[in-house]
Amino acid sequence: MQRRISLIPQPQQLTAADGDLDLSTLDAIAADPELHPLAWLLSDLLNRGTGLRLAVTGPADGPVLRLRLDGDRPADLTTAAEAYRLDVTPGGVDLAAAHPAGIARGLATLRQLLPPDALREAPAAAPVVPLVSIRDEPRLRWRGVMLDVVRHFQPKDFVLKMIDRAWMHRLNVVHLHLTDDQGWRFEVPSRPKLAEIASWRAETKVGHARDESEGYDGTPHGGFFSVSDLREIASYARERHILIVPEVNLPGHARAVLAAYPELGAGQDQPVSPTFGVFEEVLEPTPEALDFALEAYTAIAEFFEGPFVHIGGDEVPMTQWEQSPVARELMEREGMEDVRGVQAWFTKAFCDRLTAMGKRVIGWDEILDGGAPAEAAVHVWRNEAYVKKAVAAGHQVVASPEPYAYYDHYQSDGEDEPLRIHGLVPVERVAGWDPVPQGVDESMILGVQCQLWSEYLPNPRDVEYSAFPRLSVLAEVGWTNVDVREANPVMDRLGDHLERLHAMGIWYRPLEGPAPWQRGGTGSRKRFAWEHRGHPAE
Ligand code: ACM
Repeated sequence: MQRRISLIPQPQQLTAADGDLDLSTLDAIAADPELHPLAWLLSDLLNRGTGLRLAVTGPADGPVLRLRLDGDRPADLTTAAEAYRLDVTPGGVDLAAAHPAGIARGLATLRQLLPPDALREAPAAAPVVPLVSIRDEPRLRWRGVMLDVVRHFQPKDFVLKMIDRAWMHRLNVVHLHLTDDQGWRFEVPSRPKLAEIASWRAETKVGHARDESEGYDGTPHGGFFSVSDLREIASYARERHILIVPEVNLPGHARAVLAAYPELGAGQDQPVSPTFGVFEEVLEPTPEALDFALEAYTAIAEFFEGPFVHIGGDEVPMTQWEQSPVARELMEREGMEDVRGVQAWFTKAFCDRLTAMGKRVIGWDEILDGGAPAEAAVHVWRNEAYVKKAVAAGHQVVASPEPYAYYDHYQSDGEDEPLRIHGLVPVERVAGWDPVPQGVDESMILGVQCQLWSEYLPNPRDVEYSAFPRLSVLAEVGWTNVDVREANPVMDRLGDHLERLHAMGIWYRPLEGPAPWQRGGTGSRKRFAWEHRGHPAE
């Protein structure tokens, strides 16, 4: 019988042999020069969790942990770029790939082959891995997680931790939702009021936004990433071959921007929002508002060298434009019959600017409603019907439909679940998801991503509870082919994987339900069931 090796995601091909390799018997990490940054990262991680210190050398024979590039280099962000071959034999470790991103993914697998305690912050396990041969390549090109650092600001060190956890799960995208009605979370030196005014709110709603029995906390909340923070986040992600996709959400969700620069809107005087929901404020379609948006996109796009910039574009109410003489004049000038053309006008201008910078635009599925340039990728959030609609309109898609990918939703029906926005996304449903709907050309599906909206996730522990273990299962959904998933049900490996999450100090939700200290209790963190109070389910 083959020895049981429990990894998440399940590699496409895995053959185990009897026996282990003790990495302390090896001479060094022998790596091609281009791979030295990854080799030192591995050396540091092994040292932290096991106490072993392997030096990094150039290519060498003998008993080594070998990292090498071979074959023609594939383009970035292709499945071939992340393919790797990993062989652990009594004589050493050989990790080969055609692209450094493939080496980064293979190292994530190697970390999981170590005992779970090797993932701790100080030596707690022996540096021993099973003998194994793995041939692996992801099914989909984009496997991501979105952090909402707006509704509740998430500190920079937590963003770095989540990049590391994405890496450990062989994800390759961390999407940062950086702007919304409740705050603006990055410094734009040419627009100082974004940091001074738009990044702060006076207080925050206690309990659920729809729970009228609770008031506001009277405590200012805010923060933003400085230019130096952004530089650090970009470097940290680059070292692990994780793509940062920054999102600047315009022309809607604009209340914080308009609190700082009211002249860009239609005369509103609302403060940065202390509560949650969809608000009417939008940018006016003026040259000044467009200049502002293009300046913000340019500022963030220059920071992150990856190809994608997310323009948001969800939940843009048309009410202000319907009443605006400026919008009416634009519609007449451009021959628009529908007011949704105003959003399309913004979308096209954002695409033109970002394309000229060599970037690619992605936006929420509402950018389809008024029409978007075909080269824009569509990030589907509402449901799978929009996957089909976007593909039919010629767009590539990242799939995050709410029923499978919204991890701000409840994980069970239990009354003791802590306050979340609404909805229900059990981990078992994620495990059964095929993100490519029947009849859709798989090459049009860039990939999958889970969403951690933070209206009701005030601190990193709440984000971790919501993310794990659903994120672990989503990583497999994006990585592993359906036939391999069917032959190796992920739920059979999840218990083993929780030992890793535990060793990493992650505040995950146990499969049987929240631990006592994770429950909602009886106060303002108690589950709020909108649909149980006579309202339709959402
Ligand atoms: C979204 O959830 N409004 C993208």
